[in-house]
Amino acid sequence: MRWFSARFAAALLITIAPCGATGRAAPPVADCPTGPGCGPPREAVATDADPYAGMASDPALRGLATASCASATCHGGPRGGNHAVQSFAATTWVNADPHAKAYETLFTARSVRMARLLRIGPPHTERQCLVCHSVQDVSPHPLPRDVLADGVGCASCHGDATEWLEAHSLADWKGRSPADKAAVGFADLSGALERARVCARCHVGDADHDMHHDHVAAGHPRLYFELAQLQRRWPRHWNPHGRAESSPDFNARSWAVGQAVALEAAGTLLEARTARAAKAVRSGAPARWPEYTEFDCQACHRTLATAPVLAAGNPLPRQLPPGTPGWQPWFVTAAGVLDAGLDEPLAGTGADLAARVAALRRLLADEWAAADAARIERIAAEARGVVRVASRTAVTLAAAPDIRVAAAAHRLAPRAATDPRLWRGWDAAAQTTLALEADRRGGPAALGVHHAGDPPGPLDMLRESLLHPAGFDAPVGFDAERFQRQRADVP
Ligand code: HEC
Ligand code: HEC
Ligand code: HEC
Ligand code: HEC
Repeated sequence: MRWFSARFAAALLITIAPCGATGRAAPPVADCPTGPGCGPPREAVATDADPYAGMASDPALRGLATASCASATCHGGPRGGNHAVQSFAATTWVNADPHAKAYETLFTARSVRMARLLRIGPPHTERQCLVCHSVQDVSPHPLPRDVLADGVGCASCHGDATEWLEAHSLADWKGRSPADKAAVGFADLSGALERARVCARCHVGDADHDMHHDHVAAGHPRLYFELAQLQRRWPRHWNPHGRAESSPDFNARSWAVGQAVALEAAGTLLEARTARAAKAVRSGAPARWPEYTEFDCQACHRTLATAPVLAAGNPLPRQLPPGTPGWQPWFVTAAGVLDAGLDEPLAGTGADLAARVAALRRLLADEWAAADAARIERIAAEARGVVRVASRTAVTLAAAPDIRVAAAAHRLAPRAATDPRLWRGWDAAAQTTLALEADRRGGPAALGVHHAGDPPGPLDMLRESLLHPAGFDAPVGFDAERFQRQRADVP
């Protein structure tokens, strides 16, 4: 996982170039993995003067292939080009966007090892990988290699362009209502709510995008979703002026709405998994339940996080009976920080959400290994309740005129006291840090990223204390006491 990796620590101090600045050069074609799936060199399509010359050869695929968007006269122009049509969008994507490499990732040694351990075919032929690492999920038909090779391409977020590719380049497009645009499949990504829901599909998962414990055990990074930090690290391929980014509460709003959407997505995923498992149990088929990624990793892999604490002779406070893993500490603490950290009360929705999430956590602790259909269905029903409240919270927050985050220690302390073991963990520390960042690094388009040359402040040090040690993909040796001390230094 690259989030909180040492590489990220370095990246944090690097200025994210605004649109129009030069980014890293496109990788030479020779870098393309040796597997047979590499598409044509992407730059080639961006130098053509004929707007349709680079398009996918099969007209049926035009709305899905990045080549359709990336000609020089459309979105593949030089950086700093025509802001009116965002003529540099595809150039930024191909040069700097992690999504452009998502398909190539399926050829790396890590992916190949995963496939061997999972006993599946080559990952670039597996739907279970392609749904998140390519545009495959946008189409009901298997896509050819040259389209998959684009990785997470334009259509993954903006929608299948078959019905709007021509129309959106015409003069009357800008005047069309959002409903008209949606009717032809053009995704609205203008607000935090719409964006978060698009990202969560792959960064949290859902019924069709299911990254489960077999994947993690085979070597897939654990997924952490928090919209504000993802956006801070994502090279923007559009002009921020006059958009969500230019609003003073952009960062806070992304955080708040993103956390509510994260809970909505986590609940939806749990509901899908449990509903599927209950059905399997009822029909006597093998069921995937309990699904371990729904639970606290450290509850089972506990030596990892607690070794220093145990070594110091400290007994762990136990809220849950020994041996009982709790539900998703990442999402449970997100709900807690969301409820405690918003200045404007959410008319009760925040507290309602936190309470429902806590109830779901208790239910799962009671029944974590429950394998009979009725108990699994109860979990599904409870998960549905979380989804309902989370959706309402997300919509309320998205409509709020102004969002301020107040992640002060005194507001979080009472919540932490309700479940000390949960709140001493790495997930709680990371969620608290993200809230502090949303609070202190708010503001318009600069996205709160440091400018090269700024010395690291206490908040950077706090984030650094969360980094996984070199060579590890987990918070090995995370020191809760040290985190609390460093947190007290953040003004
Ligand atoms: C169709 C699936 C999909 C969607 C939708 C998606 N992503 Fe991703 N994202 C991925 C995959 C897969 C990777 C990993 C790419 C790789 O390294 O192979 C990734 C990686 C990233 C990274 C780099 C992660 C890191 O740790 O450095 C960022 C940042 C990111 N995505 C942000 C976003 C944002 C913001 C959105 C929503 C606007 C979004 N993504 C929507 C699949 C998706
Ligand atoms: C639910 C969506 C989803 C599914 C399904 C999925 N991935 Fe991923 N994958 C991601 C995201 C998102 C990331 C980026 C995580 C991050 O950086 O925090 C990622 C990262 C990776 C990485 C690490 C990339 C790097 O540069 O370090 C590898 C390797 C990988 N995926 C391989 C696979 C393989 C192989 C499969 C199928 C067996 C698969 N993935 C299925 C979403 C998914
Ligand atoms: C991971 C998600 C994601 C991917 C992949 C992606 N975009 Fe975007 N794109 C966004 C978001 C979010 C915005 C901001 C939309 C807004 O504020 O209205 C955006 C904005 C844009 C805009 C400005 C839209 C406008 O209304 O003026 C253009 C043009 C654009 N993208 C083109 C592309 C092209 C071309 C590709 C592929 C090469 C691409 N995008 C890939 C998420 C994505
Ligand atoms: C209920 C207990 C339980 C939970 C919760 C759990 N795991 Fe596991 N994990 C296991 C067991 C048992 C194995 C060994 C069997 C296997 O590979 O599936 C394992 C194997 C692994 C491995 C492979 C270890 C190796 O040496 O090859 C990794 C990595 C892993 N888990 C990561 C995670 C992560 C990350 C989470 C949280 C998202 C998690 N696990 C949650 C029980 C659990």
